[in-house]
Amino acid sequence: STALHARAKAGGKLYFGTATDNPELTNTAYTAILDDNTMFGQLTPANSMKWDAIEPEQGTFTFTQGDAIANLAKTNGQLLRGHNCVWYNQLPNWVSSGSWTTATLTSVIQNHCSTLLYVVKKPFNDDGTWRSDVFYNTLGTSYVGIGLNAARAADPNAKLYINEYNVEYPGAKSTALQNLVKSLQAAGTPIDGVGLQSHWIVGELPSLETLVQNMEAFTALGIEVAITELDIRMTLPSTAALLAQQETDYNTVISSCMAVAGCVGVTIWDFTDEYSWVPSTFSGQGAACPWDQNLARKPAYTGIQTAF
Ligand code: XIL
Repeated sequence: STALHARAKAGGKLYFGTATDNPELTNTAYTAILDDNTMFGQLTPANSMKWDAIEPEQGTFTFTQGDAIANLAKTNGQLLRGHNCVWYNQLPNWVSSGSWTTATLTSVIQNHCSTLLYVVKKPFNDDGTWRSDVFYNTLGTSYVGIGLNAARAADPNAKLYINEYNVEYPGAKSTALQNLVKSLQAAGTPIDGVGLQSHWIVGELPSLETLVQNMEAFTALGIEVAITELDIRMTLPSTAALLAQQETDYNTVISSCMAVAGCVGVTIWDFTDEYSWVPSTFSGQGAACPWDQNLARKPAYTGIQTAF
């Protein structure tokens, strides 16, 4: 099969998946591809399971949007990544601007993470120091364990991950995350894996060997790794040369996961340029996905397909 999840499974991986978002689900040409479980074996809600969507007011949980994607994954026989239970971004004001004590914020995180699951995100700055956010500023490094323990208590079967960016290659941030995993393990805190977000720029990837070496530094700790938010952006307009390089780069990233037994799967951060977060985030950049804005496959698709 040329379908990507089918090829990932044939290659011994658990899934190939994609992020998606509720407003996209009314586009039937889009959902015809999204719902094909030979193409995608896993979904991540891009926004509708973040704190501002799930608990906009303290103790008031709004699951409608998140459940729409959870139910879609279930109907399609696709895995679901609950994105995410503790993150400094897309927080409701009652959390980010609350005047918290360690006790009150601890219980708020416990309640939130036991109600939703389970990916803690982005605790570090790029230099490996802890990011200053409401969680760290109130609780120090303990907030990560609080979230993980609460999620585990709520669901013994969920895979619990820490999801970061700029940890896909050796450096201070990757080392800091490895050290965090070790300290969590020493404390007996449940941690199953690390999510390597993998937001790249065409032509600016590390070597395959570097990507593999970094993944192995994490799997050596006895945890899984997953590529959780893969896209490879370019400065527009796209050209044949840039699209060809993008094909090579997607091939390199998938090949790195194939080379590491503990890399369980790859998720792209939506599959079509039409719905990519890149243009609204990185001015003048785009065309980051394997399908174009007309839902036609790009050379990047072949780059993924041939790597599995
Ligand atoms: C992005 C979404 O795709 C956008 O729709 C939203 O406006 C901002 O967040 N890393 C992450 C994701 O962990 O949560 C981000 O998702 C993309 C970068």
